[in-house]
Amino acid sequence: MRTSGADKTAAKPGTRPFVEVYSATARRYHWLVVALLAVQIPIGVAMVYRGPKLNIWDGITNNLYSTHKLLGMIVLLVVVFRLAYRIVHGAPAEEPTLETWHKIASAINHWGLYILLLVVPVLGWLGVSLYPALDIFGLFKLPSLVTANQKLAETVFQYHGLAAFALVALAGVHVGAALYHHLLRKDNVLARMIPRLMR
Ligand code: HEM
Repeated sequence: MRTSGADKTAAKPGTRPFVEVYSATARRYHWLVVALLAVQIPIGVAMVYRGPKLNIWDGITNNLYSTHKLLGMIVLLVVVFRLAYRIVHGAPAEEPTLETWHKIASAINHWGLYILLLVVPVLGWLGVSLYPALDIFGLFKLPSLVTANQKLAETVFQYHGLAAFALVALAGVHVGAALYHHLLRKDNVLARMIPRLMR
């Protein structure tokens, strides 16, 4: 089971040990989540700046909130599918040159990212259920998770924002580690997610 989430791609002959890369499906999930977050996080920051901070409650702010809620639910759905795929199919074997502490640190980082990718949107959904602010573009409403409690909603939104910034911090470490491996250690860790970078 472990290697069906992997494609077998050898490093250039005679240079490095054999390296497995993530399967095409696993890679698509990875880059789709990156693309969604690259839009979702700036929209979250912009709408909170325009709305609660500057007190501008116009059509633009409302559309930013609707977009954020909709994209957030899409992120949640994609992450659930991605996690199910990861659990069923496993991941490629570790890059052969990694020390034990690297393997442990990367496992903590990856599972931390998965946990936050579930916790952040669920807290957002819980917050809009409690508020309640479930409307999307005046077209439909998200299903509510709980009965309304505006005071509790405010606390949940605070945790939603904090967890989102923890997610950004962990993603920053993740990107930094990928660049460190590719540019300084010159191994194939990044190539597991971008096979044409294989050395
Ligand atoms: C992975 C998905 C998500 C990410 C990364 C994310 C990120 C963020 C960020 C960065 C903020 C701004 C926090 C601040 O500046 O204080 C925010 C606010 C907000 N998010 Fe999300 N979010 C996600 C999913 C969702 C979902 C699914 C919903 C609801 C269905 C949602 C509803 C909200 C609301 C209503 C606010 C404003 C809270 C307030 O006014 O204090 N978010 N989010």
